[in-house]
Amino acid sequence: MKPSSFAPGAAIALVAALVGIVSLNQRRLPLHTLVELTGQPRPTPLAPRPSPASTAGGEISTPLASAPPMEREPEVPCVDLSPDCTAWQRGGECGFDPAYMHAHCAKSCGSCARADFDGARASAAATAAAATAAAAAAAAASVAGGGARCRDKAASCPLWAASGECDVNPGYMKLSCAKSCGSCDWADFSRRCRADPNATLAVPAGAIGELFRAIDAGALSRYKPRVVSRPPQPWAVVFDEFISAEHADEIVSVASSEEGRLFTPSQGTGGLDDDGQLIPTLSSYRTSSTRWCDGGCLNESAVRELRERVADATGVPDANHEYPQLLRYTQSQYYKEHSDYIPAHRDMPCGPRVYTFFVYMSDVEEGGNTSFPQLGLSVEPKKGRAVLWPSVLDAAPRDIDERTMHIANPVLSGIKYSVNFWIHQHDFKANHAIGCTG
Ligand SMILES: *[C@@H]1O[C@H](CO)[C@@H](O)[C@H](O)[C@H]1NC(C)=O
Ligand SMILES: *[C@@H]1O[C@H](CO)[C@@H](O)[C@H](O)[C@H]1NC(C)=O
Ligand SMILES: *[C@@H]1O[C@H](CO)[C@@H](O)[C@H](O)[C@H]1NC(C)=O
Repeated sequence: MKPSSFAPGAAIALVAALVGIVSLNQRRLPLHTLVELTGQPRPTPLAPRPSPASTAGGEISTPLASAPPMEREPEVPCVDLSPDCTAWQRGGECGFDPAYMHAHCAKSCGSCARADFDGARASAAATAAAATAAAAAAAAASVAGGGARCRDKAASCPLWAASGECDVNPGYMKLSCAKSCGSCDWADFSRRCRADPNATLAVPAGAIGELFRAIDAGALSRYKPRVVSRPPQPWAVVFDEFISAEHADEIVSVASSEEGRLFTPSQGTGGLDDDGQLIPTLSSYRTSSTRWCDGGCLNESAVRELRERVADATGVPDANHEYPQLLRYTQSQYYKEHSDYIPAHRDMPCGPRVYTFFVYMSDVEEGGNTSFPQLGLSVEPKKGRAVLWPSVLDAAPRDIDERTMHIANPVLSGIKYSVNFWIHQHDFKANHAIGCTG
């Protein structure tokens, strides 16, 4: 077969296989499936707050002669994998956090020299393969370097540490100035992010059935629930009136309006890098656009109301929810069959995704239903409607239930806006803030 006759379908399958092999190291899904990608907003790094004494000395930005040299980072594709790369670059992050930035924002940081990729034209397959190779190289470098992760990422670390910043600003300092703060153990992902095997599950065995049976018996009737799947199949419920049309419109307008935080292409996941972070990949498996709701967006009154309702309806506190993911599917956009469960989360301190709470924010003229092929179920988008389903088994709520794999069918006409809530067994937000959620 000539290279030019290589079928697009085969390319997609190849990407799916590559991504699948890397990310599904715990429990194998069929290789034709892609797991949902988190790509959660990266916590805004706190710039170290220089103490008055050191500011007065005017030395903060002066590189110290004793500052450790930066290590060379592994080869990565010449693309930005986050919409925020440009802003981070402007804020000096390429220098503060070169490992992360080079891996995720090579284009903005201008650190593509050793890579052969043209970001604009790199195919999804090349991007996924390169991300995989970069992760392998980074992991190997980390092992070979024997504690290569234990370093200062900013030249001023020794100075900041001397002025007490390790205690004043630990979130930034203990990770980025690990050497100067003597926090190497903490900076080490495998130690910092150790899951507590005895942590109480937010959703213990049997709790999924309990919740859905209560809903079936009339709890939450204010949201007009309909149980659409029940044992022996996994549970699923549709709430026909979960939020008002006004709230839905408000959230869409918050999502679309905020300057500099526009929707960007949704991503898939390509395994873990050497910091234990999930590697985002672009893929033809998923063509929607995403906008993470963090920072001020979380505080918008309609968003707060929605977050409270989701916590109240599921009985799982907001801390365990990922930041809401706002999605926009325009004509012909889709997301092929996938599970929201990310195997790598299982042994992270946040634990696996237990529930998905999916809220439709617009009426779609045609197409765009959410279908669950194994349940023979499909849900039509409708403004204010929501669907709740588990991604884990009721009897083993840390293990994937593959039967709730689902598809976002192509929008045929109109625009589909929706919000995804992914709800974990343990605290997601606190673990995300210290870089422990992938
Ligand atoms: C978990 O609980 C077991 C039994 O109570 C105990 O022996 C063990 O030390 C605990 N582990 C941690 C990490 O707390
Ligand atoms: C959200 O609002 C609360 C109180 O209204 C405030 O304490 C908090 O700092 C705000 N958070 C953000 C991210 O704006
Ligand atoms: C859901 O969408 C798919 C693809 O457009 C379509 O084939 C299917 O009939 C729809 N389901 C229902 C119940 O309308």
